[in-house]
Amino acid sequence: MEQNGEGKPKQPVIFDGMALPPFPPLVKDAKGRFEEIRDLHCRKDDVLLVIYPKSGTHWVWEIVCMLLKKKAEYMKETKEFFFLEAIPDMSVVHNLASPRPLNTHVPYRWLPKQHIENGGKIVHVLRNPKDVAVSMFHHFNNTKEFGEPIDFKTFYERVFMGPVPLFGGWFSYEKEFEQAEAKDTRSAIFTLHYESLKKNPIQETKRLAKFLDVDLSDEVLAEIVDKCSFKKLKEANDTMKDFIKIVPGKTEVNPQEIMSKLYRKGEIGDWKNHFTVALNEHFDAVFKEEMKDSKIQVQYE
Ligand code: A3P
Repeated sequence: MEQNGEGKPKQPVIFDGMALPPFPPLVKDAKGRFEEIRDLHCRKDDVLLVIYPKSGTHWVWEIVCMLLKKKAEYMKETKEFFFLEAIPDMSVVHNLASPRPLNTHVPYRWLPKQHIENGGKIVHVLRNPKDVAVSMFHHFNNTKEFGEPIDFKTFYERVFMGPVPLFGGWFSYEKEFEQAEAKDTRSAIFTLHYESLKKNPIQETKRLAKFLDVDLSDEVLAEIVDKCSFKKLKEANDTMKDFIKIVPGKTEVNPQEIMSKLYRKGEIGDWKNHFTVALNEHFDAVFKEEMKDSKIQVQYE
């Protein structure tokens, strides 16, 4: 990950065995920001979305916001306003109205302690790691956060499966979460599968509403699902939002451009267009070994 080979080398932020995106607060003091997150003063009704990058965070965040408001209305802000590791100043979070739809990619061990002690709600989304790799590959090449564009094989070997992967890597992130979920006696953690939400959006959104203690008519629920479909969310995102304010310093690429590229394909199985037979076999072998003690079921199609 330290050098991309084809373009100028860029050093990612490294902390606690994780490569981190170059968000200004992390570049400035990653340890300090992680500690601020862990020590965050939480309210009992906070909802925390804790999701490995490229697994549908923006999508599910919009759904959660609509469910909490009980209205199929888009938020005026992007999820970045509630993004714990990227907001320029944590005091922003203190001034947000309840219930706060906070979101983060930090692994379970770094989550706000008080939220866990409170039995606060945690929404977790799990996406199949091959599609996560593909989505991340395009994100990296579009944002150039780690240097000039690279090919998929190089990305796979050096970044996704590299020695210090993003947020510690998919395997470690999801296994840590699975262990936390196994100990979650208060049923405070709700795991949603990206693929299930895509295939059965009404049913899965209903389950999510129930978890959030939100009682809604079938009509409003269907409206929320519709407004959060890939096509509608992409269109809405293209016409509103103020990303610039929240991530100052990301000047190499127009932030609006990044946001529109973020809604890329929104499909299950794009990995088949990127993984060669050899890469696929390699991944399946690593998966088998890494997940031998895990009960996590992933859906590749
Ligand atoms: P792709 O790059 O495979 O298209 P995150 O928000 O965690 O960064 O995840 C981004 C991924 O979620 C992108 O995947 C994006 O297209 C997908 N996504 C966003 N909105 C979606 C929606 N409404 N339905 C399905 N996928 C969506």
